[in-house]
Parts: sequence; C-alpha cells; structure tokens
Amino acid sequence: MFRGTRVPLLSVAILPLGLGFAVFGAPEQPVDEARAVGPVSYASQVAPLFAAQCTSCHGDETQEAGLALHTYDAVMKGSEYGTVIEAGNPDESLLLDMIAAGEMPQEADAMSAEEVALIRSWIAAGASNN
Ligand code: HEC
Repeated sequence: MFRGTRVPLLSVAILPLGLGFAVFGAPEQPVDEARAVGPVSYASQVAPLFAAQCTSCHGDETQEAGLALHTYDAVMKGSEYGTVIEAGNPDESLLLDMIAAGEMPQEADAMSAEEVALIRSWIAAGASNN
C-alpha cells in the first residue's frame, strides 16, 4: 500500500538540494582571478580607484593626453589617440598595460596587485557601467 508513494517522496526530498546548487552554484566552482564574489562593479569598485589615483591628471579640469577618467563615458571614450579600454579584452587595453607596468599613475606609487586584478576582472567581464 505504501509502495506507490515512496518514489515521489524521495524526489521531493532531493529537489531542494538541486535547487540549492542551481541558486548558489556547485560547491567546487573555480575561484576567479580577483577572488571577487560576483562581477566587479564600476561604480563602487573601479571608479573610486580612478578618483583617488588618476583624476588629478585625467579629470574634469586636466586631461593629460586628452584622457579623462572621472565619468564612465569619458573612460570608454579614451584619449586623443584612441580607446584605452577594450571591453572584454584586458590584454588589448592600454590602460591596464600601463597600470600593470607601473607607468600610471605618474608621480605616485604604482597601483597594488589587487587593484590591478580588480580592474582586469572588470574589463574581462565586459567593462560595463554596473
Ligand atoms: C601626475 C599626473 C598623472 C596621473 C596621476 C596619472 N596620469 Fe595617466 N598620463 C599622464 C600624462 C602626462 C600622460 C601622457 C604622457 C604619457 O603617456 O606618459 C598620461 C597618459 C596616460 C595614458 C595613455 C593615453 C594614451 O592613449 O596614450 C593612460 C591609459 C593613462 N595615462 C592612465 C592613467 C591611469 C589609469 C591613472 C591612474 C591610475 C593615471 N593615468 C594617472 C599623467 C598622469
């Protein structure tokens, strides 16, 4: 008499486990390069770095090489020579090259490895205005 109900009960017990993996991701996902949880945010993570270390020379008032970094649109527009960020392609992005090599910011300490990794992740994920 109980035979008919056993299989459906088992399925109901396993369902939440499957849903848990679907929502939170399987437990053994590879850790991404910036060890960030979720995508890097331009507004709350990248823009503050530019504001602290770059906009004195690339901002509203001074735009060395024609480059401003104080708004998302300005960042994506690039310098008088062309774009400095190629969305989705960190290896082709001049801005990343220069901060990784310590060439920018000028007249200041280089960005930390963590800061460079954060900006790399943001570019790799599509450099969105998120
Ligand atoms: C003290 C001034 C100063 C600061 C601070 C500074 N820069 Fe620059 N930047 C310059 C000057 C001057 C140039 C143009 C000459 C050169 O390329 O060396 C330049 C050029 C660049 C270029 C190359 C533009 C092109 O197309 O050739 C990039 C990219 C850049 N800066 C990014 C940054 C970033 C990112 C920061 C912050 C981490 C930063 N800069 C901070 C002065 C500065």
